[in-house]
Amino acid sequence: MRLLNIRLIVSLILGITLVSLVSSYLEVRVQKRSLRQDLEHRAEVLGESLAENVEPHFGRSSRRLQEIVLRFGNREHLAGVAIYDREGNVLAVTPGLAPLLATQPHAAAQALVNNRETSEFVRTESDALNIYAVPLHKNAEILGALVIVHDAAYIDAQKARIWRETFLRVLVQVVLIALITLLIVRWSITGPIARAAQWMKALRTGRSSPHFSGSDLLHPLAQEVASLAQSLTAARSAAEKEAELRDAAESIWTADRLAVYVRGRLKGSRLFVVSNREPYFHVRSGKTVQALVPASGLVTALEPVLCACDGTWIAHGSGDADREAVDQHDSLRVPPDDHRYTLRRVWLSKEEEEGYYYGFANEGLWPLCHIAHTRPIFRASDWENYQLANKKFAKAVLEEMDGIEQPVLLTQDYHFALLPRLIKRERPDARVAIFWHIPWPNPEAFGICPWQRQLLDGLLGADLIGFHIQSHCNNFLQTVDRTLESRIEWEHFAVNREKHSTTVMPFPISVEFPEPAQASEDRPSQQERAALLRELGLEAVYLGVGVDRVDYTKGILERFLAVERLLEKHPFYRGKFTFVQIGAPSRTHIKRYHDLMAEVEAEAERINWKFAAGKWKAIVFRKGQHNHDEIRRYYRSADLCLVTSLHDGMNLVAKEFVAARDDERGVLILSMFTGAARELRDALLVNPYDIEQTAEAIQVALEMDPENRKARMLRMRKMVKEHNVYNWAGNLIGHLCELRLETPETKATGVGMGTTPGPGATRSQRRLAPATTRSMISVAPAP
Ligand code: G6P
Repeated sequence: MRLLNIRLIVSLILGITLVSLVSSYLEVRVQKRSLRQDLEHRAEVLGESLAENVEPHFGRSSRRLQEIVLRFGNREHLAGVAIYDREGNVLAVTPGLAPLLATQPHAAAQALVNNRETSEFVRTESDALNIYAVPLHKNAEILGALVIVHDAAYIDAQKARIWRETFLRVLVQVVLIALITLLIVRWSITGPIARAAQWMKALRTGRSSPHFSGSDLLHPLAQEVASLAQSLTAARSAAEKEAELRDAAESIWTADRLAVYVRGRLKGSRLFVVSNREPYFHVRSGKTVQALVPASGLVTALEPVLCACDGTWIAHGSGDADREAVDQHDSLRVPPDDHRYTLRRVWLSKEEEEGYYYGFANEGLWPLCHIAHTRPIFRASDWENYQLANKKFAKAVLEEMDGIEQPVLLTQDYHFALLPRLIKRERPDARVAIFWHIPWPNPEAFGICPWQRQLLDGLLGADLIGFHIQSHCNNFLQTVDRTLESRIEWEHFAVNREKHSTTVMPFPISVEFPEPAQASEDRPSQQERAALLRELGLEAVYLGVGVDRVDYTKGILERFLAVERLLEKHPFYRGKFTFVQIGAPSRTHIKRYHDLMAEVEAEAERINWKFAAGKWKAIVFRKGQHNHDEIRRYYRSADLCLVTSLHDGMNLVAKEFVAARDDERGVLILSMFTGAARELRDALLVNPYDIEQTAEAIQVALEMDPENRKARMLRMRKMVKEHNVYNWAGNLIGHLCELRLETPETKATGVGMGTTPGPGATRSQRRLAPATTRSMISVAPAP
């Protein structure tokens, strides 16, 4: 730093000196010119008046001429005057200059030749002079020349004075500028840099907050350093975590572990995901565009996976401002504030959306697969649009895969039953999986779909089909067995058809498990609960929570009835227990969903009215989209969480609730008809159709001994932690990448390409995969 200062100051001194010298030189030149002009002007004026006096006496009286010369000779700076005839002979001269002007000066000769005043500056050994010669006339005839000599030494003195002053000025300037520069450097550069360096050091060692309070000048740099330090901290804590886990001989999946694992499996290729619902949709609100996250279990599960692996997610652009947010390839990087992967949007016409999404997928397949007593509707026009939309998405997927060898595709859900075959047909080198996020019913139930053969054929284009639980796999294989010409390898859970093999396996989906560091930063759940109740304007001693899309499969009305029954049977809880239901409006364009919203609101209203007492409410229905942080506050504030789906593939609300309870409190009441019930055995399992039983479970939950409650929550947390969403993705991608794809030879022989659960298989995969025959398969219909 000192060397830097010296260099800076020396450069400044040289610069200033150079500039001052050049400007002084110019100033001296200007001054010299103006002093000379001034002198010449004086000589000219004097010359004119002398000439007037001399000319009448020229050739008549030398004495008179000498008198005139003597009279004028004592002016300021005037060295002398001389008069010459035409031949150059001196006629009169000031005594002091006689020796110098004995011979006619050059200027006088020039004046005579040119008949014009002539000036010249001459330097003798001791003097600097100006010689000004004026031709003398009589009528038009040149008589001789008058010479006026001025002493010009004072001009040199002036020049010397200017140089002296310049030198002094430069000296003072240099000292002042050097001093000021030193102070500026110290105040605005050296000081802030030293403070910033201290802050960076503290940040690096984790002793400082990432917020930089120093100079504005360094803010952009500080921001970059802070995010670098954050990445370092995250990397360090991931490494520590890994080390801890290795130490504990555990193998918890983390985002980092998944990223490394998937990179290894992809071998330089790329991961693609296709789903109907996009992870972010853009909506216009006034003049601004907002990015929102939809309420979808699928999105909740896949977002962390995509963030970990940086792939491409292809989905329907459904937001009203979605087109404004994409580039020329209909793509954008997301999450909006931390670009980690690419979202490619596919546009659908109103008619396509109506037929494919609302119609075939959600009025047909959704109720068909969820046995919740809503009749599926199958319209031929919807089927047409379903096929068209599958083709449209397949085209977008193929475009994205273009140029990528052996791409890996994870197709999501019942919206895309036809897509695996469409992709495989064009890209046999692609590894294609489809994960079915909803239940698969028994063959009789599925058989009512008029296009079941085409759906199964489309699905069997995939190399791997995943369901949440084994019984859904079993139902699927049974359906294939009864519907299509195929060979089922029950011992490998594979379907061989037209020389292609499809493996069918359970992969129970899950959620992220928050890191303890993040959890401990939060306020204790009791404080959080008091704040939440204040905000809601509620007076309650006990709090229950439910979080759902408002969907008839979720058993929301049954849940309300159970709350009502609890309050009827146990009046003690009136005025004390409040149940908050968060309900995100969903698919409201479909009449059944639209009506359901009204029913839910009316039912809450009815029950509240029945038990109305002061400020207390039995049920608070919070209609609307809530983000993850808002929902987490409810989870952490509640004594119990009610999940009463009439049928559900998995249900991630149950797992999210458990993951949020780092205080190890809270009781989960869980429908036995959810996939989650197979894993969360420490929940209070209920049949949601049995209102008495659910009401009783609420009472048991509220009165549960804290030790028992804690032990149950601890076991459930261990389960969710060990089987988190990274574990799910790792297993799914790992199995897909391990499958042997058909080569022309294997195709010719028709040898099966299945796989058995590998070392990475989840516990439930090992536990549930049956030893051999179909006789072991449970195909019990869901309720
Ligand atoms: C279920 C489905 C998802 C779907 C979600 C929300 O979880 O399995 O595919 O995204 O519901 O429904 P929506 O129709 O709004 O996408």
